[in-house]
Amino acid sequence: MEKKILFANIDDPGQPEIDTYISKGGYESFKKVLKEMKPEEVIEEVKKSGLRGRGGAGFPAGMKWSFVPKDSPKPKYLVCNGDESEPGTCKDRVLMEHDPHLVVEGMAIAAYAIGANHAFIYIRGEFDHPANQMRKAIGQAYDKGYLGKNILGTGYDLEMIVHTGGGAYICGEETALLNSLEGKPGQTRIRPPFPAVEGLYACPTVVNNVETLSNVSLIIKNGGEWYASIGTEKSTGTRIFCLSGHVKNPGNYELELGTPLSYLINDLGGRVIDGKKLKAIIPGGSSTPILLPDKIDTPLDFESIAQAGSMLGSGGVIVMHEDTDMVWVARTLAHFYMHESCGECTPCRQGTKWIYDILSRITFGEGKMDDIDLLLDLCDNIDGKTICPLGDAAVIPIRSTINLFRNEYEYYIKTGKPLVNNKFMSFV
Ligand SMILES: Cc1cc2nc3c(=O)[nH]c(=O)nc-3n(C[C@H](O)[C@H](O)[C@H](O)COP(=O)(O)O)c2cc1C
Repeated sequence: MEKKILFANIDDPGQPEIDTYISKGGYESFKKVLKEMKPEEVIEEVKKSGLRGRGGAGFPAGMKWSFVPKDSPKPKYLVCNGDESEPGTCKDRVLMEHDPHLVVEGMAIAAYAIGANHAFIYIRGEFDHPANQMRKAIGQAYDKGYLGKNILGTGYDLEMIVHTGGGAYICGEETALLNSLEGKPGQTRIRPPFPAVEGLYACPTVVNNVETLSNVSLIIKNGGEWYASIGTEKSTGTRIFCLSGHVKNPGNYELELGTPLSYLINDLGGRVIDGKKLKAIIPGGSSTPILLPDKIDTPLDFESIAQAGSMLGSGGVIVMHEDTDMVWVARTLAHFYMHESCGECTPCRQGTKWIYDILSRITFGEGKMDDIDLLLDLCDNIDGKTICPLGDAAVIPIRSTINLFRNEYEYYIKTGKPLVNNKFMSFV
């Protein structure tokens, strides 16, 4: 069901102002951790909450924080990932725009927990307004003494910096993000070492998504057990789902994890437009496998969606109706991954272009029957053979559309025309 904890104040136009935020109990959690809790206790509370990363992989946040070596003499860094480039995803932007202090407070608590005195927020280059809102909020937090030297007389120092990127999808991948933050080209690093041990400037670094960190002050305020009581046993809390595509009411909806997909699409989304039949659903951003309508009652939690054959990913739910040309969908997404491949790994650099070229010739009526197997062969030669998961992600829409809609590929190749006509996501 819909449950607004992150979005509790999202409609209040005054919320980005620090005085409004404070009047509703804002920064009390940060004060509490500084004055009453040791860093290990903060990590324990977040572990107890069961909070898992909202950036894609769903890794437990408290566990990630505990990997930062306490005895390392090097500085530690906290990095908030506000790159938000996954097609279909537009929730971090809204948090940064409409409740920036929730993000700042979460970052401050996380920084304290891992022993960092510097926290960065890396924001996608096109996000002018979110970046300005974050800059303003951080400035206000400095003015009130929640950031800077000797915060609230506790001896804890924290500097917070906004860094805008160049608008590259790859810079959302945590190691490319760290390279970009260091002023290098946004290309990925081989892991291990993982950032928690060797991240920014080769120092221990935690990278967490905006939504992940936005939960932290609420967990400290209400307790880890409270958070764990929301959602399912292994997928605790809420998630913001970004509903788009062929639905009447697209938008961002915060749901308790475990809520059926049908509730999002039908009850909140107002069903498929024009009374058309549902054909396909991408449940977690374009890098997640497509689900067919028979999976509409799947609960939206990490485990159930995995069991249904896909992933919760970044929370971008894309709905497609019966007239959607699925080969065109594959081509459009192939263009995205080709364009966004950083070029570092040959299989991804060359393979994504090759896939796009084949899909283009099929959709322009010049395909050959062998092309379908050639596409699958290319997918095999990219998947698992690149440094970062962009390559793995790029093959997902191709395999998924061939597995589920092979007849549409064959029709295109035989007749030179699409079986159905809606050029959904047609920007190339
Ligand atoms: C190609 C690619 C793009 C990514 N883009 C983002 C992004 O825009 N925002 C994000 O939070 N995580 C993104 N991730 C995941 C990050 O690498 C990382 O796992 C995440 O920021 C960790 O935060 P979390 O544990 O709070 O989810 C991306 C991963 C890949 C492979």
